Amino acid sequence: MKIGIAADHGGYELKEIIHSYLLSLNYDVKDFGAFEIDYADDYPDFIIPLAKALVNKEVDRAIAICGSGVGASVAANKVSGVRAALINDHFSAHQGVEDDNLNMLCLGGRVTGYMAAQELIVAFLNARFTEAERHVRRLRKVQELEK
Ligand code: RB5
Repeated sequence: MKIGIAADHGGYELKEIIHSYLLSLNYDVKDFGAFEIDYADDYPDFIIPLAKALVNKEVDRAIAICGSGVGASVAANKVSGVRAALINDHFSAHQGVEDDNLNMLCLGGRVTGYMAAQELIVAFLNARFTEAERHVRRLRKVQELEK
């Protein structure tokens, strides 16, 4: 599975830790930056390219990080086909995939510690959409908005 990651300055440190962690788990990782801390950078400049790569199937899943995770999720969800959510708990990290076909995990680099982030990532990456009829039906209603 190929994983895309991106962060602004608020998420840079956590992204670097997560990058190494994903490599240690033998994931193929594509890093969309930032590649250094620049306190003047803007999260859409990294998160939107990641979101587009996800929709274009250049990556299978995505992890986006800003200071709170809020801006990353707001920006990513503007790209049609992205289902991004700011996640802070283990249940939502896998249930979001199982029920809602979540394809982008957003984290707050200034909020979530790196060990907790790693556990959230494992739950997210190991989860699969159940394709249960009721979930497909609900997702279709969401996807209607993208037309
Ligand atoms: C940047 O300082 C900060 O606003 C950004 O990383 C993020 O938290 C926005 O939601």
